[in-house]
Amino acid sequence: MTPVGAPVVRDEALEKVTGAAKYAYEYGSGEQTAYAWIVTSTVARGRVMSVGADHVLTADDVIAVLWHENAPRLGDVGDPVVAVLQDGDVHYRGQVVALVVAKTPEAAREAAARLPVEYEELSHDVVLTPDHETLYKPAQVNPSFETDTRQGDPDGALEASPVTVDHTYTTVALHNNPMEPHASTALWHDDGTLTLWDSNQGGHPVRETIAGLFEVEPGAVRVVNAHVGGGFGSKGTPRPNVVLAVMAARVTGRPVKLAVTRQQMFSLVGYRTPTIQRIRLGAEADGRLNAIVHEVVEQTATVKEFAEQTAVATRKIYAAPHRRTSHRLARLDVPVPSWMRAPGECPGFYAFESAMDELAHDLGMDPVELRVRNEPEVDPETGNPFSSRNLVACLREGAARFGWEPGPRTPRSRQEGRWLIGTGVAASFYPTYEAPATATASTDGNGHYTVAINATDIGTGARTALRQLAAEALDLPLERVSIRIGDSELPPAGLAGGSMGTRSWGWAVTKACAQLLSSGSPEVTVNTADDIEALGQYSRGAYGAQFVEVRVDVDTGELRVPRMTGIFAAGRIVNARTARSQIVGGMTMGLSMALHEEGVMDAAFGDYANHDLAGYHVASCADVGSIDVGWIEEDDEHLGGARTKGIGEIGIVGTAAAVANAVFDATGVRVRELPIQAQHVL
Ligand code: MOS
Repeated sequence: MTPVGAPVVRDEALEKVTGAAKYAYEYGSGEQTAYAWIVTSTVARGRVMSVGADHVLTADDVIAVLWHENAPRLGDVGDPVVAVLQDGDVHYRGQVVALVVAKTPEAAREAAARLPVEYEELSHDVVLTPDHETLYKPAQVNPSFETDTRQGDPDGALEASPVTVDHTYTTVALHNNPMEPHASTALWHDDGTLTLWDSNQGGHPVRETIAGLFEVEPGAVRVVNAHVGGGFGSKGTPRPNVVLAVMAARVTGRPVKLAVTRQQMFSLVGYRTPTIQRIRLGAEADGRLNAIVHEVVEQTATVKEFAEQTAVATRKIYAAPHRRTSHRLARLDVPVPSWMRAPGECPGFYAFESAMDELAHDLGMDPVELRVRNEPEVDPETGNPFSSRNLVACLREGAARFGWEPGPRTPRSRQEGRWLIGTGVAASFYPTYEAPATATASTDGNGHYTVAINATDIGTGARTALRQLAAEALDLPLERVSIRIGDSELPPAGLAGGSMGTRSWGWAVTKACAQLLSSGSPEVTVNTADDIEALGQYSRGAYGAQFVEVRVDVDTGELRVPRMTGIFAAGRIVNARTARSQIVGGMTMGLSMALHEEGVMDAAFGDYANHDLAGYHVASCADVGSIDVGWIEEDDEHLGGARTKGIGEIGIVGTAAAVANAVFDATGVRVRELPIQAQHVL
């Protein structure tokens, strides 16, 4: 009786819903505890000339004011994002310029509001345009992909194709809004060691960064992240909050708590870069693609380069002999963009899968059949065989479950009362990654087993999934297995990111359990680096198909999405309940991207004008109809480990295109910019 696949309730479910689960900000409370409050720049570019610390230090409860002239000097770890308060230069509005530390959060907040900061202000440039004068070609795109690729003669093939599409799609800045904002509690001990309770997607990278910045041994830093209230990529790299908390704790000799406010998150934790994407497709009359060209312009910051891999997924999805992709960046006076759920695949597939729908329309073909017709036999970029690829099965199963009407679409042909009705489809794809991990499995000799690994459960249910995998490997009921995660004292493991957390940790967990059984010893520790090295040359990825129904009010342009169906082929599914939640969350976030979320840049102000949940609309329950999620069974022997792929990110990939395609079907209006709003369809 295997527990893998069963809809097991999260181990920490009761703790979470009763408020007993402790998050980073809830540790280290006591008489001596101090509270830090971040002060951010009010100019987009310039220099801090003075900070009037004396003006606020007169208040009883204010302990310290840190700014670039008095903040501790930090070691160089090669990441300008965490080199806070080291010089007076202001690179974007919302950058950290000072930190107030006080005996209460209220006193810290008030002093931060009153703190006089004088600037020398310089002119700024914050608006992304395709002909931007600072446009340049980055050396590679995140994390280490080719910036440009070319196969064959795409221009010649476009020229020779009887049917072509050539359109430009734009996406806006999107901001990570996990339920729990970034927060850190720092406590230096008398022996020079540090305990950090920090909200992050991986404790070991935080430990390394903090050790480097404060010039102590990594072993002197302990990072605890027992519970994390979401991240979406924004907590994948250490952020200013954790550095500032450690700084303040060192300067004051007290435990220090620091929470980033929701407003501050819009500039301090990374965001999805806006993009301008030109897509050209050339096809035969029967739909077979000859040429795919995907050219991306996106924005980066002056502080640090982030080049999103927007066109990378396009290289792998459909067969076409002639293809070209490219990425160009504009370096602007803006906050540093970074990871947000499926960075690259998500915005890239909005554009690319919209263009596929336009092609299907021009060909007079069913958009499902167009995708099936271009199913490649091998990875079209590398020529490697697929370890498993069930995109066609996802399309077929999804079409059946959704009730997709076969055949070409006739836009604006269905209406019920005030509502124009349309349906749309798009493919989903997310590559399968893995990182080495170490795990220790042990038995108490009385039939109970424990597996320890520094994995991070950011709300996905990873802790529970790992326990299920361990129980399976030990051939024991769940009750006899415990999992310990979320502490850098445990065996090292990689990030909860890149949809590779549970896959990578699960690999180490199952290996440790298997070795414990075969060795007969009471404790074993294993690492998976060699196993990963031994993976064959296959193209590994998860695939999916999303179907969406849209209703558009014929007079007001109000857009509703009453139902969505997503079918995914993502290896073995470890926990039916938490896996479904991941996909429902991803599709909801994709719907939110399609219709609601929009960072609105104010060119004069030099900042996103909307930076809270009132001005930046994230889809609420009332915006989401029914979401039907299903799986294609896969048992892929080339995946290694527990034969899992990733499910954290694929749910958001393609959703926005499916919505946009449905909007076209409903209204006959092709919207090539996100978010799609009433004014676009009227
Ligand atoms: Mo995710 S954007 O890989 O944390």
